[in-house]
Formats: sequence, structure tokens, C-alpha cells
Amino acid sequence: MSIHIGASPDQIAPYVLMPGDPYRARWIAETFLEDPVQYNDVRGMLGYTGTYAGVRISAQGSGMGQPSMAIYAQELFDDYDVQAIVRVGTCGGLSEKVSVRDVILGTAASTDSAMNVPRFRQVSYAPAADFELLRIAADVAEEKMLPVIAGGLYSADQFYNPDPTITATLAEYGVLGVEMEAAALYTLAAQFSRRALAVCTVSDHLVTGEETSSQERQETFEDMIVVALESIVR
Ligand code: ADE
Repeated sequence: MSIHIGASPDQIAPYVLMPGDPYRARWIAETFLEDPVQYNDVRGMLGYTGTYAGVRISAQGSGMGQPSMAIYAQELFDDYDVQAIVRVGTCGGLSEKVSVRDVILGTAASTDSAMNVPRFRQVSYAPAADFELLRIAADVAEEKMLPVIAGGLYSADQFYNPDPTITATLAEYGVLGVEMEAAALYTLAAQFSRRALAVCTVSDHLVTGEETSSQERQETFEDMIVVALESIVR
């Protein structure tokens, strides 16, 4: 057991899919995994382990924001020896290169968070995805003809951003989407020499104002989970 996850080490698989929403973890387990077993409900942050194509995989909620993601990612890497985490979530589109329902493979994650200041002091560390996972995810998406684009994410501390000019500047510098967790995940994966990737469906668009219906979100979420699972088992 770790502080926030009530499982014994053998109950969590080496590969973990992490949605922000714990109910999504349950939905992933019930929809995609064979013989899923719930191993965690501490603070309602549900976690399950089952198999996909014969490979043991866990689905664990991360909660919203980098402090929450950092707690679960650290415990999974450090206490449960997890080898790879794929975040599966939603993001807001920042760039005209993306539309709602597109899936972004987050190559890197810029952030306004101060979480890395105690690690790197004045150095602005660049949290980045694992290249192998990224390459396989891109191949899987291409084979399945899914609307996937690789590019930068912005991991914001605040969902209700008080300064929209920041996201406009980031878009000018090629950042595609805003979410709230990838930078912490990538930093911790680097700290523990493990692999991580954030795969995010564009659920709303900050420039065009487009939004997705819950039905559309569900369908694109399914495409995204298939990309994440197939990337892990290859
Ligand atoms: N996740 C989905 N949409 C988002 C947005 N607009 N900002 C931050 N995170 C998001």
C-alpha cells in the first residue's frame, strides 16, 4: 500500500492508463479490459487491473491538476514499479491546426506551474514524452486512420485562465492544446527513468469556440483509448 493507493504491489500492472476522471478509469476497465479487478477506492480515485490482448494493464484516475497527478504518478513509479503511464484525457484546442475531436499526442508540455522550481531552480526544464511510445502511438493512429496530430501541450494550473493572451502566444509558438496534468507526468517519468505519454482529445476550442457533445466526447474517447492500449501492447 502507498499513501494514496490501497493496493498491494502485485495488484497494479507495469502499464497504466491514466484518465483524470476516476469514473473514466472504471469505464475503461469495464469496456476494454478483460476480468477487471478494482484495487483502489481511496479518496474515490478508482483504480483497476485487467488484461488487454493478453497484457496486464491498469486504469487509474489521476484527478485534476498537476499536484494530484504528481501524487499518483510518483506512487505508481516509486511504490509499484510501474514502467509506463499513458495519460488519456481531454484538452482545449489552442491552435487553428486542431479541431474538436482531434487527438493530440503531446510531444512536450509547457507549464505555468511552479512545481519544478524546487527541482531545477532557475532552469526552465522541458518535460517531454517518451519517444518510443509517441512513435508507436502515431503509427497505430495512422493505421486506424484516426485524426491524430503530434505537438506541444500547455499544462495550465488554472482551468479558468485569467490571461487569454498567454494561450494565444503559446499557439503562435506551436502549442496545440491546453490541459492540466502532462508536465508533471513527464517530469516524474524522467525522474524515475520510466516512460510516459499524454494523449488528449480536443473537447473544446479556445479560439473557434467549438465544443463537443457528450456523445462525440464518448466516441472520440473510445478512439483515444484504443490508440493508448495498442501503443502499450506493441
Ligand atoms: N481540458 C479540456 N478542456 C480544457 C481547457 N479548456 N483548459 C484546460 N483543460 C482542459
